[in-house]
Amino acid sequence: MNLLPETWTALLYLAAAVAFILALKGLSSPRTARRGNLIGAAGAALALVTVFLSSDLDNILPILAAIAVGTALAVPAARRVPMTSMPQLVALFNGVGGGAAALVALLELPAMTAWGGQLAVAFTVPVGAVAFSGSVVTFLKLQEVMTTRPVVLPGAPVLMVASALGVVVLAGVLAATGSTPAALVLLALGLVVGLLLVLPVGGADVPIVISLLNAMTGLAVAASGLVLDNTVLLVGGTLVGASGTILTRAMAAAMGRSVSGILFGALRGGSTAGSTAVSDRPVRSSSPEDVAILLAYAHRVVVVPGYGLAVAQAQHTMAELAQTLEAKGIEVLYGIHPVAGRMPGHMNVLLAEANVPYEALKEMDEINPVFKTTDVVLVVGANDVVNPAAKTTPGAPIYGMPILEVADAQQVVFLKRSMRPGFAGIENELLYDPKTTLLFGDAKESLTKVLSAVKGM
Ligand code: TAP
Repeated sequence: MNLLPETWTALLYLAAAVAFILALKGLSSPRTARRGNLIGAAGAALALVTVFLSSDLDNILPILAAIAVGTALAVPAARRVPMTSMPQLVALFNGVGGGAAALVALLELPAMTAWGGQLAVAFTVPVGAVAFSGSVVTFLKLQEVMTTRPVVLPGAPVLMVASALGVVVLAGVLAATGSTPAALVLLALGLVVGLLLVLPVGGADVPIVISLLNAMTGLAVAASGLVLDNTVLLVGGTLVGASGTILTRAMAAAMGRSVSGILFGALRGGSTAGSTAVSDRPVRSSSPEDVAILLAYAHRVVVVPGYGLAVAQAQHTMAELAQTLEAKGIEVLYGIHPVAGRMPGHMNVLLAEANVPYEALKEMDEINPVFKTTDVVLVVGANDVVNPAAKTTPGAPIYGMPILEVADAQQVVFLKRSMRPGFAGIENELLYDPKTTLLFGDAKESLTKVLSAVKGM
Protein backbone atom coordinates (compact mmCIF):
# COMPACT_ATOMS: atom_id res chain seq x y z
CA MET A 1 0.00 0.00 0.00
CA ASN A 2 2.86 2.32 0.87
CA LEU A 3 0.65 4.92 2.54
CA LEU A 4 3.27 6.10 5.02
CA PRO A 5 6.23 8.36 4.30
CA GLU A 6 9.56 6.82 5.30
CA THR A 7 10.02 9.11 8.30
CA TRP A 8 6.67 8.03 9.73
CA THR A 9 7.51 4.39 9.22
CA ALA A 10 10.78 4.87 11.09
CA LEU A 11 9.02 6.73 13.92
CA LEU A 12 6.35 4.03 14.29
CA TYR A 13 9.00 1.31 14.34
CA LEU A 14 10.87 3.30 16.99
CA ALA A 15 7.67 3.51 19.07
CA ALA A 16 7.21 -0.28 18.72
CA ALA A 17 10.82 -0.90 19.77
CA VAL A 18 10.37 1.36 22.83
CA ALA A 19 7.20 -0.61 23.68
CA PHE A 20 9.23 -3.87 23.57
CA ILE A 21 11.81 -2.41 25.95
CA LEU A 22 9.11 -1.15 28.34
CA ALA A 23 7.46 -4.58 28.12
CA LEU A 24 10.67 -6.30 29.22
CA LYS A 25 11.03 -3.83 32.09
CA GLY A 26 7.43 -4.53 33.15
CA LEU A 27 7.91 -8.29 32.93
CA SER A 28 10.75 -8.13 35.43
CA SER A 29 8.36 -7.88 38.39
CA PRO A 30 5.10 -9.75 39.11
CA ARG A 31 3.49 -6.43 40.08
CA THR A 32 3.97 -4.91 36.63
CA ALA A 33 4.09 -8.06 34.48
CA ARG A 34 0.50 -7.85 33.21
CA ARG A 35 0.97 -4.25 32.10
CA GLY A 36 4.35 -5.14 30.55
CA ASN A 37 2.73 -7.92 28.57
CA LEU A 38 0.02 -5.60 27.24
CA ILE A 39 2.58 -2.96 26.26
CA GLY A 40 4.59 -5.62 24.39
CA ALA A 41 1.48 -6.85 22.58
CA ALA A 42 0.55 -3.27 21.64
CA GLY A 43 4.10 -2.75 20.28
CA ALA A 44 3.81 -5.91 18.17
CA ALA A 45 0.39 -4.83 16.85
CA LEU A 46 1.77 -1.39 15.96
CA ALA A 47 4.73 -2.96 14.14
CA LEU A 48 2.38 -5.25 12.20
CA VAL A 49 0.06 -2.43 11.12
CA THR A 50 3.09 -0.33 10.11
CA VAL A 51 4.32 -3.14 7.83
CA PHE A 52 0.96 -3.20 6.05
CA LEU A 53 0.82 0.59 5.68
CA SER A 54 4.40 1.15 4.62
CA SER A 55 5.26 -1.65 2.19
CA ASP A 56 4.24 -2.74 -1.24
CA LEU A 57 3.23 -6.21 -0.15
CA ASP A 58 2.58 -8.89 -2.73
CA ASN A 59 0.15 -11.68 -1.84
CA ILE A 60 -1.88 -9.68 0.66
CA LEU A 61 -4.75 -12.19 0.62
CA PRO A 62 -2.62 -15.26 1.48
CA ILE A 63 -0.91 -13.17 4.21
CA LEU A 64 -4.26 -12.21 5.75
CA ALA A 65 -5.45 -15.83 5.46
CA ALA A 66 -2.29 -17.06 7.23
CA ILE A 67 -2.82 -14.48 10.00
CA ALA A 68 -6.44 -15.64 10.38
CA VAL A 69 -5.44 -19.32 10.59
CA GLY A 70 -2.65 -18.56 13.10
CA THR A 71 -5.01 -16.47 15.24
CA ALA A 72 -7.77 -19.09 15.13
CA LEU A 73 -5.33 -21.77 16.32
CA ALA A 74 -3.30 -19.79 18.85
CA VAL A 75 -5.93 -17.74 20.69
CA PRO A 76 -8.05 -20.70 21.93
CA ALA A 77 -4.88 -22.69 22.69
CA ALA A 78 -3.47 -19.85 24.81
CA ARG A 79 -6.81 -19.22 26.54
CA ARG A 80 -7.47 -22.84 27.38
CA VAL A 81 -4.00 -23.94 28.43
CA PRO A 82 -3.73 -24.63 32.16
CA MET A 83 -1.04 -22.64 33.93
CA THR A 84 0.89 -25.87 34.56
CA SER A 85 1.22 -26.51 30.80
CA MET A 86 2.37 -23.00 29.94
CA PRO A 87 6.05 -23.98 29.35
CA GLN A 88 5.15 -26.40 26.55
CA LEU A 89 2.92 -23.79 24.91
CA VAL A 90 5.75 -21.26 25.11
CA ALA A 91 8.08 -23.87 23.59
CA LEU A 92 5.69 -24.45 20.70
CA PHE A 93 5.15 -20.73 19.99
CA ASN A 94 8.89 -20.17 20.19
CA GLY A 95 9.56 -23.00 17.73
CA VAL A 96 7.07 -21.54 15.28
CA GLY A 97 8.89 -18.17 15.51
CA GLY A 98 12.26 -19.77 14.74
CA GLY A 99 10.82 -21.83 11.88
CA ALA A 100 9.13 -18.75 10.40
CA ALA A 101 12.39 -16.77 10.50
CA ALA A 102 14.20 -19.61 8.70
CA LEU A 103 11.52 -19.88 6.00
CA VAL A 104 11.36 -16.11 5.44
CA ALA A 105 15.15 -15.99 5.01
CA LEU A 106 15.00 -18.93 2.59
CA LEU A 107 12.32 -17.23 0.49
CA GLU A 108 14.24 -13.95 0.44
CA LEU A 109 17.50 -15.60 -0.64
CA PRO A 110 17.01 -15.02 -4.42
CA ALA A 111 16.57 -11.29 -3.71
CA MET A 112 19.90 -11.10 -1.84
CA THR A 113 22.51 -9.78 -4.19
CA ALA A 114 25.11 -8.56 -1.72
CA TRP A 115 27.41 -10.75 0.37
CA GLY A 116 26.04 -9.29 3.66
CA GLY A 117 22.47 -10.34 2.86
CA GLN A 118 23.56 -13.88 1.99
CA LEU A 119 25.52 -14.06 5.23
CA ALA A 120 22.39 -13.04 7.18
CA VAL A 121 20.44 -15.81 5.41
CA ALA A 122 23.24 -18.30 6.14
CA PHE A 123 22.84 -17.45 9.85
CA THR A 124 19.04 -17.27 10.02
CA VAL A 125 18.27 -20.55 8.24
CA PRO A 126 20.22 -22.97 10.51
CA VAL A 127 19.59 -21.07 13.77
CA GLY A 128 15.85 -20.82 13.06
CA ALA A 129 15.76 -24.51 12.08
CA VAL A 130 17.56 -25.57 15.29
CA ALA A 131 15.12 -23.47 17.33
CA PHE A 132 12.17 -25.08 15.51
CA SER A 133 13.07 -28.77 15.79
CA GLY A 134 14.56 -28.32 19.29
CA SER A 135 11.38 -26.62 20.48
CA VAL A 136 9.21 -29.39 19.06
CA VAL A 137 11.22 -31.96 21.08
CA THR A 138 10.96 -29.85 24.26
CA PHE A 139 7.19 -29.64 23.70
CA LEU A 140 6.92 -33.43 23.29
CA LYS A 141 9.01 -33.99 26.43
CA LEU A 142 7.10 -31.56 28.64
CA GLN A 143 3.75 -32.80 27.32
CA GLU A 144 5.02 -36.29 28.15
CA VAL A 145 4.21 -37.46 24.62
CA MET A 146 7.73 -38.89 24.68
CA THR A 147 9.96 -39.86 27.59
CA THR A 148 11.31 -36.97 29.67
CA ARG A 149 14.53 -38.92 30.22
CA PRO A 150 17.67 -38.19 28.19
CA VAL A 151 17.57 -39.98 24.83
CA VAL A 152 21.04 -40.69 23.46
CA LEU A 153 20.88 -42.17 19.95
CA PRO A 154 23.62 -44.65 19.00
CA GLY A 155 26.57 -42.71 17.55
CA ALA A 156 24.97 -39.42 18.66
CA PRO A 157 28.24 -37.61 19.51
CA VAL A 158 29.73 -38.41 16.08
CA LEU A 159 26.49 -37.48 14.33
CA MET A 160 26.35 -34.24 16.31
CA VAL A 161 29.91 -33.21 15.44
CA ALA A 162 29.39 -34.16 11.77
CA SER A 163 26.15 -32.22 11.41
CA ALA A 164 27.51 -29.19 13.27
CA LEU A 165 30.55 -29.16 10.96
CA GLY A 166 28.22 -29.60 7.97
CA VAL A 167 26.25 -26.55 9.12
CA VAL A 168 29.39 -24.40 9.38
CA VAL A 169 30.70 -25.46 5.95
CA LEU A 170 27.35 -25.06 4.19
CA ALA A 171 26.73 -21.70 5.86
CA GLY A 172 30.09 -20.57 4.44
CA VAL A 173 29.13 -21.83 0.96
CA LEU A 174 25.74 -20.13 1.17
CA ALA A 175 27.22 -16.81 2.31
CA ALA A 176 29.74 -16.89 -0.54
CA THR A 177 27.50 -18.12 -3.36
CA GLY A 178 23.85 -17.58 -2.39
CA SER A 179 23.13 -21.13 -3.61
CA THR A 180 19.53 -22.23 -2.98
CA PRO A 181 20.36 -26.00 -2.84
CA ALA A 182 22.99 -25.22 -0.17
CA ALA A 183 20.32 -23.30 1.76
CA LEU A 184 17.90 -26.23 1.59
CA VAL A 185 20.50 -28.73 2.84
CA LEU A 186 21.43 -26.22 5.56
CA LEU A 187 17.79 -26.09 6.64
CA ALA A 188 17.63 -29.89 6.86
CA LEU A 189 20.93 -30.08 8.78
CA GLY A 190 19.71 -27.37 11.17
CA LEU A 191 16.63 -29.47 11.90
CA VAL A 192 18.85 -32.50 12.63
CA VAL A 193 21.11 -30.47 14.96
CA GLY A 194 18.04 -29.23 16.86
CA LEU A 195 16.89 -32.81 17.42
CA LEU A 196 20.35 -34.02 18.45
CA LEU A 197 20.80 -31.08 20.78
CA VAL A 198 17.59 -31.52 22.76
CA LEU A 199 16.98 -35.29 22.76
CA PRO A 200 19.78 -35.97 25.32
CA VAL A 201 18.52 -33.30 27.74
CA GLY A 202 16.85 -34.71 30.84
CA GLY A 203 13.37 -33.54 31.86
CA ALA A 204 14.51 -31.37 34.78
CA ASP A 205 16.74 -29.33 32.44
CA VAL A 206 14.19 -28.87 29.66
CA PRO A 207 13.03 -25.42 30.92
CA ILE A 208 16.57 -24.09 30.61
CA VAL A 209 16.77 -25.42 27.08
CA ILE A 210 13.46 -23.73 26.21
CA SER A 211 14.98 -20.46 27.32
CA LEU A 212 18.12 -21.14 25.25
CA LEU A 213 16.06 -21.97 22.15
CA ASN A 214 14.06 -18.82 22.79
CA ALA A 215 17.30 -16.83 22.69
CA MET A 216 18.20 -18.58 19.40
CA THR A 217 14.83 -17.67 17.90
CA GLY A 218 15.51 -14.07 18.91
CA LEU A 219 18.86 -14.10 17.12
CA ALA A 220 17.33 -15.74 14.03
CA VAL A 221 14.60 -13.08 13.97
CA ALA A 222 17.19 -10.31 14.42
CA ALA A 223 19.16 -11.68 11.45
CA SER A 224 15.96 -11.90 9.41
CA GLY A 225 15.56 -8.18 10.19
CA LEU A 226 18.84 -7.68 8.30
CA VAL A 227 17.57 -9.86 5.44
CA LEU A 228 14.32 -7.91 5.16
CA ASP A 229 15.92 -4.57 5.99
CA ASN A 230 13.41 -4.16 8.83
CA THR A 231 14.53 -2.28 11.93
CA VAL A 232 11.83 -3.45 14.28
CA LEU A 233 12.60 -7.13 13.61
CA LEU A 234 16.25 -6.39 14.28
CA VAL A 235 15.53 -4.62 17.56
CA GLY A 236 12.83 -7.07 18.74
CA GLY A 237 14.94 -10.11 17.85
CA THR A 238 18.00 -8.69 19.59
CA LEU A 239 15.97 -8.00 22.74
CA VAL A 240 14.65 -11.58 22.75
CA GLY A 241 18.13 -12.95 22.06
CA ALA A 242 19.72 -10.93 24.86
CA SER A 243 17.00 -11.46 27.47
CA GLY A 244 16.76 -15.16 26.59
CA THR A 245 20.52 -15.54 27.08
CA ILE A 246 20.38 -13.77 30.46
CA LEU A 247 17.41 -15.92 31.56
CA THR A 248 19.17 -19.12 30.43
CA ARG A 249 22.25 -18.24 32.50
CA ALA A 250 20.16 -17.23 35.53
CA MET A 251 18.11 -20.45 35.42
CA ALA A 252 21.20 -22.61 34.95
CA ALA A 253 22.85 -20.86 37.93
CA ALA A 254 19.70 -21.35 40.06
CA MET A 255 19.82 -25.07 39.31
CA GLY A 256 23.60 -25.29 39.85
CA ARG A 257 24.17 -26.29 36.22
CA SER A 258 26.39 -25.16 33.37
CA VAL A 259 24.66 -24.69 30.03
CA SER A 260 27.21 -26.93 28.27
CA GLY A 261 26.71 -29.59 30.94
CA ILE A 262 22.97 -29.52 30.27
CA LEU A 263 23.37 -29.80 26.50
CA PHE A 264 26.26 -32.22 26.30
CA GLY A 265 26.26 -33.97 29.71
CA ALA A 266 24.39 -37.05 28.50
CA LEU A 267 26.43 -37.19 25.27
CA ARG A 268 29.61 -37.22 27.36
CA GLY A 269 28.26 -40.24 29.20
CA GLY A 270 27.26 -38.52 32.45
CA SER A 271 23.66 -39.56 33.02
CA THR A 272 21.16 -36.93 34.01
CA ALA A 273 18.48 -39.55 34.53
CA GLY A 274 17.02 -40.27 37.91
CA SER A 275 15.56 -43.35 39.50
CA THR A 276 11.84 -43.49 40.00
CA ALA A 277 12.08 -46.39 42.42
CA VAL A 278 10.25 -45.60 45.63
CA SER A 279 11.34 -47.46 48.72
CA ASP A 280 8.83 -48.92 51.17
CA ARG A 281 10.52 -47.56 54.32
CA PRO A 282 8.09 -46.25 56.93
CA VAL A 283 7.20 -42.56 57.09
CA ARG A 284 5.37 -40.53 59.72
CA SER A 285 1.96 -39.42 58.46
CA SER A 286 -0.56 -37.39 60.39
CA SER A 287 -4.06 -35.94 60.27
CA PRO A 288 -5.15 -32.39 59.34
CA GLU A 289 -6.03 -31.83 63.01
CA ASP A 290 -2.46 -32.74 64.12
CA VAL A 291 -1.03 -30.36 61.55
CA ALA A 292 -3.43 -27.63 62.73
CA ILE A 293 -2.13 -28.06 66.29
CA LEU A 294 1.50 -27.86 65.10
CA LEU A 295 0.72 -24.64 63.25
CA ALA A 296 -1.35 -23.05 65.98
CA TYR A 297 1.49 -23.43 68.51
CA ALA A 298 4.17 -22.07 66.19
CA HIS A 299 5.68 -18.60 66.30
CA ARG A 300 6.94 -18.66 62.76
CA VAL A 301 5.68 -20.78 59.86
CA VAL A 302 7.34 -20.87 56.44
CA VAL A 303 5.33 -22.13 53.49
CA VAL A 304 7.31 -23.72 50.65
CA PRO A 305 5.04 -23.87 47.60
CA GLY A 306 5.79 -26.11 44.63
CA TYR A 307 4.29 -27.57 41.51
CA GLY A 308 1.60 -29.47 43.48
CA LEU A 309 0.16 -26.17 44.76
CA ALA A 310 -0.47 -25.20 41.14
CA VAL A 311 -1.92 -28.62 40.25
CA ALA A 312 -4.29 -28.50 43.20
CA GLN A 313 -5.08 -24.79 42.61
CA ALA A 314 -4.76 -24.45 46.36
CA GLN A 315 -3.28 -20.94 46.41
CA HIS A 316 -6.48 -19.26 47.70
CA THR A 317 -6.94 -21.80 50.51
CA MET A 318 -3.25 -21.46 51.36
CA ALA A 319 -3.56 -17.68 51.57
CA GLU A 320 -6.66 -17.97 53.77
CA LEU A 321 -4.86 -20.37 56.10
CA ALA A 322 -1.93 -17.95 56.32
CA GLN A 323 -4.27 -15.05 57.16
CA THR A 324 -5.99 -17.13 59.84
CA LEU A 325 -2.62 -17.99 61.40
CA GLU A 326 -1.49 -14.37 61.23
CA ALA A 327 -4.68 -13.32 62.99
CA LYS A 328 -3.52 -15.58 65.82
CA GLY A 329 -0.19 -13.71 65.95
CA ILE A 330 1.84 -16.29 64.02
CA GLU A 331 4.32 -15.01 61.45
CA VAL A 332 3.86 -16.63 58.03
CA LEU A 333 6.47 -16.30 55.28
CA TYR A 334 6.78 -18.00 51.89
CA GLY A 335 10.09 -19.49 50.70
CA ILE A 336 10.28 -19.24 46.92
CA HIS A 337 12.77 -21.41 45.04
CA PRO A 338 13.73 -20.01 41.62
CA VAL A 339 12.67 -23.21 39.80
CA ALA A 340 9.68 -24.22 41.94
CA GLY A 341 6.74 -25.17 39.72
CA ARG A 342 7.19 -25.48 36.00
CA MET A 343 8.17 -22.02 34.78
CA PRO A 344 10.14 -19.04 36.02
CA GLY A 345 8.07 -17.02 38.48
CA HIS A 346 5.37 -19.72 38.63
CA MET A 347 4.91 -19.49 42.40
CA ASN A 348 4.98 -15.68 42.41
CA VAL A 349 2.18 -15.63 39.84
CA LEU A 350 0.10 -18.20 41.74
CA LEU A 351 0.45 -16.44 45.07
CA ALA A 352 -0.16 -13.00 43.54
CA GLU A 353 -3.43 -14.46 42.18
CA ALA A 354 -4.42 -15.15 45.79
CA ASN A 355 -3.34 -11.62 46.85
CA VAL A 356 -0.54 -12.86 49.09
CA PRO A 357 1.37 -9.68 50.04
CA TYR A 358 4.53 -9.45 47.99
CA GLU A 359 6.59 -8.68 51.12
CA ALA A 360 5.78 -12.15 52.53
CA LEU A 361 7.51 -13.85 49.56
CA LYS A 362 11.17 -14.48 50.34
CA GLU A 363 13.69 -15.64 47.78
CA MET A 364 15.93 -18.61 48.52
CA ASP A 365 18.99 -16.67 49.74
CA GLU A 366 16.83 -14.59 52.04
CA ILE A 367 14.77 -17.42 53.54
CA ASN A 368 17.48 -20.06 53.99
CA PRO A 369 18.99 -18.47 57.14
CA VAL A 370 15.45 -18.04 58.54
CA PHE A 371 14.69 -21.79 58.64
CA LYS A 372 16.89 -22.22 61.75
CA THR A 373 14.43 -20.08 63.70
CA THR A 374 11.29 -21.51 62.08
CA ASP A 375 8.94 -23.78 64.02
CA VAL A 376 7.07 -25.38 61.13
CA VAL A 377 7.76 -25.55 57.41
CA LEU A 378 4.71 -26.40 55.35
CA VAL A 379 5.91 -27.92 52.08
CA VAL A 380 2.88 -27.64 49.83
CA GLY A 381 3.26 -29.73 46.68
CA ALA A 382 7.02 -29.17 46.48
CA ASN A 383 9.65 -31.88 46.36
CA ASP A 384 12.78 -31.39 44.22
CA VAL A 385 13.36 -27.86 45.54
CA VAL A 386 13.80 -29.19 49.10
CA ASN A 387 15.44 -32.53 48.21
CA PRO A 388 18.79 -32.94 50.03
CA ALA A 389 19.95 -35.28 47.22
CA ALA A 390 20.96 -32.03 45.50
CA LYS A 391 23.79 -31.87 48.05
CA THR A 392 24.40 -35.49 48.94
CA THR A 393 24.00 -37.58 45.80
CA PRO A 394 26.49 -36.94 42.99
CA GLY A 395 24.94 -38.12 39.71
CA ALA A 396 21.40 -37.26 40.81
CA PRO A 397 19.70 -35.09 38.17
CA ILE A 398 19.41 -32.21 40.64
CA TYR A 399 22.91 -32.61 42.12
CA GLY A 400 24.49 -29.18 42.59
CA MET A 401 21.18 -27.29 42.58
CA PRO A 402 20.87 -25.00 45.62
CA ILE A 403 17.83 -26.03 47.68
CA LEU A 404 15.60 -24.53 50.34
CA GLU A 405 17.19 -25.77 53.57
CA VAL A 406 13.91 -26.73 55.23
CA ALA A 407 15.61 -29.47 57.30
CA ASP A 408 17.03 -26.66 59.49
CA ALA A 409 13.53 -25.96 60.89
CA GLN A 410 12.02 -27.65 63.96
CA GLN A 411 9.30 -29.52 62.07
CA VAL A 412 8.62 -30.17 58.40
CA VAL A 413 5.16 -31.03 57.09
CA PHE A 414 4.83 -32.29 53.51
CA LEU A 415 1.45 -31.99 51.79
CA LYS A 416 1.40 -34.43 48.86
CA ARG A 417 -0.80 -37.22 47.57
CA SER A 418 1.58 -40.16 47.61
CA MET A 419 5.23 -41.17 47.94
CA ARG A 420 5.78 -40.50 44.24
CA PRO A 421 8.84 -38.39 43.47
CA GLY A 422 8.81 -34.93 41.88
CA PHE A 423 9.82 -33.81 38.40
CA ALA A 424 13.40 -35.07 38.63
CA GLY A 425 12.15 -38.58 39.41
CA ILE A 426 14.27 -39.21 42.50
CA GLU A 427 13.45 -40.13 46.04
CA ASN A 428 13.53 -37.48 48.74
CA GLU A 429 15.33 -38.62 51.92
CA LEU A 430 13.73 -35.78 53.84
CA LEU A 431 10.39 -37.61 53.69
CA TYR A 432 11.92 -40.26 55.99
CA ASP A 433 13.53 -37.77 58.39
CA PRO A 434 12.30 -38.04 62.01
CA LYS A 435 11.32 -34.36 62.03
CA THR A 436 9.13 -34.81 58.95
CA THR A 437 5.39 -35.44 58.96
CA LEU A 438 3.34 -36.24 55.85
CA LEU A 439 -0.21 -35.12 55.29
CA PHE A 440 -1.36 -37.23 52.36
CA GLY A 441 -4.02 -35.99 49.95
CA ASP A 442 -4.71 -33.32 47.36
CA ALA A 443 -3.19 -30.07 48.64
CA LYS A 444 -6.45 -28.12 48.36
CA GLU A 445 -8.46 -30.73 50.25
CA SER A 446 -5.77 -31.09 52.92
CA LEU A 447 -5.42 -27.32 53.36
CA THR A 448 -9.20 -26.91 53.59
CA LYS A 449 -9.30 -29.46 56.43
CA VAL A 450 -6.30 -27.88 58.20
CA LEU A 451 -7.93 -24.45 57.82
CA SER A 452 -11.22 -25.52 59.37
CA ALA A 453 -9.35 -27.25 62.22
CA VAL A 454 -7.29 -24.07 62.87
CA LYS A 455 -10.46 -21.95 62.78
CA GLY A 456 -12.10 -24.27 65.30
CA MET A 457 -9.28 -23.89 67.83
P1 TAP B 1 8.22 -31.31 42.07
O1 TAP B 1 9.57 -31.70 42.51
O2 TAP B 1 7.81 -31.66 40.68
O3 TAP B 1 7.20 -31.93 43.11
C1 TAP B 1 5.84 -31.68 43.00
C2 TAP B 1 5.18 -32.40 44.14
O4 TAP B 1 3.83 -32.02 44.13
C3 TAP B 1 5.26 -33.90 44.00
O5 TAP B 1 5.89 -34.39 45.14
C4 TAP B 1 3.79 -34.36 43.94
O6 TAP B 1 3.67 -35.49 44.77
C5 TAP B 1 3.07 -33.15 44.52
N1 TAP B 1 1.74 -32.94 43.96
C6 TAP B 1 1.34 -33.01 42.68
N2 TAP B 1 0.02 -32.76 42.59
C7 TAP B 1 -0.42 -32.53 43.84
C8 TAP B 1 -1.67 -32.21 44.41
N3 TAP B 1 -2.78 -32.09 43.64
N4 TAP B 1 -1.75 -32.05 45.73
C9 TAP B 1 -0.67 -32.19 46.53
N5 TAP B 1 0.56 -32.48 46.05
C10 TAP B 1 0.68 -32.65 44.72
O7 TAP B 1 7.97 -29.74 42.22
P2 TAP B 1 8.92 -28.59 42.78
O8 TAP B 1 9.45 -28.93 44.12
O9 TAP B 1 8.13 -27.34 42.59
O10 TAP B 1 10.16 -28.60 41.82
C11 TAP B 1 10.08 -28.16 40.51
C12 TAP B 1 10.75 -29.17 39.59
O11 TAP B 1 10.33 -28.91 38.27
C13 TAP B 1 12.25 -29.05 39.61
O12 TAP B 1 12.84 -30.31 39.36
C14 TAP B 1 12.52 -28.12 38.42
O13 TAP B 1 13.79 -28.29 37.88
C15 TAP B 1 11.47 -28.61 37.45
N6 TAP B 1 11.05 -27.62 36.48
C16 TAP B 1 11.07 -26.31 36.83
C17 TAP B 1 10.64 -25.40 35.93
C18 TAP B 1 10.70 -23.96 36.34
S1 TAP B 1 11.48 -22.92 35.45
N7 TAP B 1 10.14 -23.58 37.44
C19 TAP B 1 10.13 -25.81 34.69
C20 TAP B 1 10.06 -27.19 34.39
C21 TAP B 1 10.54 -28.08 35.32
P3 TAP B 1 2.42 -36.48 44.64
O14 TAP B 1 2.37 -36.93 43.22
O15 TAP B 1 2.73 -37.55 45.61
O16 TAP B 1 1.21 -35.68 45.04
